[in-house]
Amino acid sequence: MTSVGDFSVGVLAVSAGDEVAAAALADDLRLPLCDTATRPRNCEQFQALLICSAQKLALQQTGWPVPGPVSVDFGSAAMRHRRRGGHNELLGKAIGLSKKPQMHVLDATAGLGRDSFILADLGCEVTLCERNEIVTRMLASGLSVAALSADQWLKSVVQRMDLHVGDARSLGVKALSGVDVIYLDPMFPDRDKSAKVKKEMALFHQLLGAGDDADALLLWALGQNVARVVVKRPPKAPELGHCKPSHTISGKAVRYDVYVLHGL
Ligand SMILES: C[S@@+](CC[C@H](N)C(=O)[O-])C[C@H]1O[C@@H](n2cnc3c(N)ncnc32)[C@H](O)[C@@H]1O
Repeated sequence: MTSVGDFSVGVLAVSAGDEVAAAALADDLRLPLCDTATRPRNCEQFQALLICSAQKLALQQTGWPVPGPVSVDFGSAAMRHRRRGGHNELLGKAIGLSKKPQMHVLDATAGLGRDSFILADLGCEVTLCERNEIVTRMLASGLSVAALSADQWLKSVVQRMDLHVGDARSLGVKALSGVDVIYLDPMFPDRDKSAKVKKEMALFHQLLGAGDDADALLLWALGQNVARVVVKRPPKAPELGHCKPSHTISGKAVRYDVYVLHGL
């Protein structure tokens, strides 16, 4: 799936030197390739452009005024700030890190990989699974840029992250073996209504849709041979699939519903 409904995306090379890579990407994703002279603010043909350069892949909404591009940059100041944020402690607690420090987590809804990166930074081996092809390409680009970075910390964190492309429910026995925890952060239709909608979430809601099969994903996760399933929810949201968790870990902006299946 590269888009939802009539949300249209084109591929744009940043410069002439990026045209071969952009053409290959457009071909792989079965998306139209734009003329390199296209300017996102003047582009009326597409709702978003996947902008391709040697350094990164960025998704940019077209038109004006619109938010800036979204990309996966694990070394960014925002990511470095995020790793010190209080909710990492909550996430560590939710997955049961104190009970088993060397943990293997399957992030079955990897998205832009921020939660996966936090988990890997906490010392977990993380299998990331993402089914949207555009998001997957952005994630893969962010992971390879980080892996080639001169920053040893960044390099070592992404070494613990392994990306799988496709629906998590299609993962084979090999990818699931040794997984202690399945982590889910499905799209939530109303989650940002009261707060200021974050720019990437607004764009990604359009790209991905509401994700209305999240209940089925939880049921699948609960059927796997793992110690626990952890679901990230907005604080006041109903439980996924009306399944009552074993316990919840709540913060100001987020709640983790923890389904304990057996000991870690
Ligand atoms: C809210 S985003 C996750 C954000 C992510 N936690 C982060 O920190 O960037 C949800 C993502 O899960 C993906 N997704 C939803 N259901 C999936 C499934 N069954 N298998 C794989 N990916 C799925 C969507 O395509 C979307 O990119």
